[in-house]
Amino acid sequence: MNVVEAREFWRKYDDMERRLTRPLTDRMLELGGLIPGMNVLDIGTGRGEPAIAAAQRVEPAGEVLGIDISEDMLQLTRDRASGEGVTNLRLDRQSAETLDAPRKHFDVAVARWSLMYLQSPALALRTITRALKPGALMIAALWTEPERAGYFTLPRKSENCRSIFKRSGKATSREKSGP
Ligand SMILES: C[S@@+](CC[C@H](N)C(=O)[O-])C[C@H]1O[C@@H](n2cnc3c(N)ncnc32)[C@H](O)[C@@H]1O
Repeated sequence: MNVVEAREFWRKYDDMERRLTRPLTDRMLELGGLIPGMNVLDIGTGRGEPAIAAAQRVEPAGEVLGIDISEDMLQLTRDRASGEGVTNLRLDRQSAETLDAPRKHFDVAVARWSLMYLQSPALALRTITRALKPGALMIAALWTEPERAGYFTLPRKSENCRSIFKRSGKATSREKSGP
């Protein structure tokens, strides 16, 4: 899937994905004890999860900073936030490992399904810690490292198999039965 296809895919399935994963978002924000006035940092915010829901919980005085390396994902979030009338969410294209954020500023950091994609989670955790107030909480939802997560590696493996078959001149069964 290329960048344009990915963008179209998420625009199409955003509502469904949001609905299905809402219980996790709610649980993370409950664990974080979010209340109006808090400042929240969302690492790898993607399509605005859980940043938008967090912004709604901490308004009007609280703010959320959502960071992601993908400008396409951030644009989806911008569109969604403006559609929902959210004005206390700032979105920055940044990498967690080199986070540029005010020190000791955030009451809670959240990272939903993003830590395992980072090149250096340890480095990112150090930069995140610097941005947190003393006693702040970090709530993360993640699965295991990529090598042990079939969800993450299977598409790559099947892609590798296809290219090996192609190089050897043998088509995969799916390609053989195709039109
Ligand atoms: C599976 S998505 C999760 C998005 C969202 N938090 C959610 O729960 O739907 C992982 C996100 O992490 C972002 N990401 C990957 N590496 C990153 C990094 N080094 N710094 C910040 N974000 C990163 C990706 O661009 C992607 O949007």
